[in-house]
Amino acid sequence: MSATVADLVAGLREVVGSAGLVTDADQMAGYLTDWRGAYRGAAAVVVRPGSTEEVAEVIRRCAAAGVAVVPQGGNTGLCGGSIPDTSGRQVVLSLTRLRRVRDLDPADQTITVEAGVVLRAVQEAAAAAGLLFPLSLGSEGSCTIGGNLATNAGGTAVLRYGTMRDLTLGLEVVLPDGRVWHGLRGLRKDNTGYDLKQLFLGSEGTLGIVTAAVLKLFPAVRTRATAWVGLPGPQAAVDLIGVVRELAGDRLTAFEVMSRQSLELVLAHASGVRDPLAGPHPWYALVELSDTLPMAPLDEVLETALGAAFEREMVTDAVVGSGSAQVAALWALREGISEAQEPEGPSLKHDVTVPIGSIPAFVAQTDGALEAALAGVRIVSYGHVGDGNLHYNLSKPVGADDDAFRSRGAELSRVVYDSTASFGGSISAEHGLGRAKRDLIADYKDPLDIELMRGLKQLFDPAGLMNPGAVLPEPP
Ligand code: FAD
Ligand code: MLT
Ligand code: ZN
Repeated sequence: MSATVADLVAGLREVVGSAGLVTDADQMAGYLTDWRGAYRGAAAVVVRPGSTEEVAEVIRRCAAAGVAVVPQGGNTGLCGGSIPDTSGRQVVLSLTRLRRVRDLDPADQTITVEAGVVLRAVQEAAAAAGLLFPLSLGSEGSCTIGGNLATNAGGTAVLRYGTMRDLTLGLEVVLPDGRVWHGLRGLRKDNTGYDLKQLFLGSEGTLGIVTAAVLKLFPAVRTRATAWVGLPGPQAAVDLIGVVRELAGDRLTAFEVMSRQSLELVLAHASGVRDPLAGPHPWYALVELSDTLPMAPLDEVLETALGAAFEREMVTDAVVGSGSAQVAALWALREGISEAQEPEGPSLKHDVTVPIGSIPAFVAQTDGALEAALAGVRIVSYGHVGDGNLHYNLSKPVGADDDAFRSRGAELSRVVYDSTASFGGSISAEHGLGRAKRDLIADYKDPLDIELMRGLKQLFDPAGLMNPGAVLPEPP
């Protein structure tokens, strides 16, 4: 450790105390690798401040020492954005001690929480007040609100409630020079110029450290109906959304799809799961309706919609979940896909959006191009089809060598991204860019977009110390 960095670490100890510093190699390890083990870094220290004031002082000291800071929440991100580089000179700033629910206002229907509060704890705090915080992700037991804001997280309820961007009314942010930007207001209307909070949403820690947020709450859901549906293919999925929406309107809360290949991995690797339908189907949908009325006849509505779709040969079989255990079992099949891919060796993750109507043509084109590029590649496609968002993940062909598959990674990803671009889509729907995709945007975004993004980065962080290496491509 150089003298400057050693002095900085000693200074940070003065700010957060020994309990707020992690220097032991074993204890640091969990902060230096991501959930999938795809990224590994090193750090001078992991610092865990306990308040906004401490975060601000940590940032001031790092700025004075010219040391870069990598913010981290629950470390569940899928693009490597929360992992430092391998120099050992960067500081990991963990927000997990900022975990107070500061306020819940039933009249305004808002909750004010600190960045390190785990998503599930926010859902529970809202539920305890008879309200709903709707963001819902497979990682909700460990991801934090700060990470959700910084990645503009999506998940399974976007169709009805929007992404984190839509759910946020105000933010408190420590700027790269250590000043605190007080944007922590719960106003539903505020047209006093530029909406600065939007710049921090989805900025992945490159413009500042989010320390707290005011989030929107909604009336609690009192009735749900959930169906697991066998489909002949992606066109049927898109058509079925239309049929259900026509009857159920915005009671349609979730519409998730997965290919047979995705389900097979879950059936092979998750415990206590079973295929809910008698035979195999090429694709599946998990459809959920919800209502705030206690006695809303949602099962009936869903059965009517599925009956109509069955007659039009969009649906090949279906089961409507009865009772919370069966519904949870259906959701476990969907939520289990990410984890079920891990035992199959290296996987390539792609999180793309295309216009919803293009999904069938996009799937046909991309599947064909992938099979042509690597015969037998396993395409694990699933996702939030109601948002046009597919996770087009790939696993190696059965029996193939791990390293041989890894060596084809960039080429196979190109196939998926070129196909996405040919439909006017985006190469990151909800996971962000992190380190994984930051160079790729140079090929898939308008140069003017990137020029404006660089201008904002320069304005907020002229010294380039906020999560360098994430989001913005390496300068040409
Ligand atoms: P981290 O991983 O710690 O950080 C993510 C990024 O945010 C990093 O760039 C980090 O530097 C930055 N950051 C973190 N906290 C702050 C802060 N306070 N201020 C500034 N920057 C900060 N994502 C979805 O969108 N939809 C899904 O459906 C979904 N499902 C998932 C399922 C599984 C099983 C897993 C493992 C992940 C899933 N994710 C999903 C991805 C991930 O959970 C989200 O991106 C989540 O929002 C990350 O939160 P985190 O607290 O773990 O952030
Ligand atoms: C999901 O929707 O399950 C995640 O966003 C996707 C993933 O883990 O690849
Ligand atoms: Zn997702």
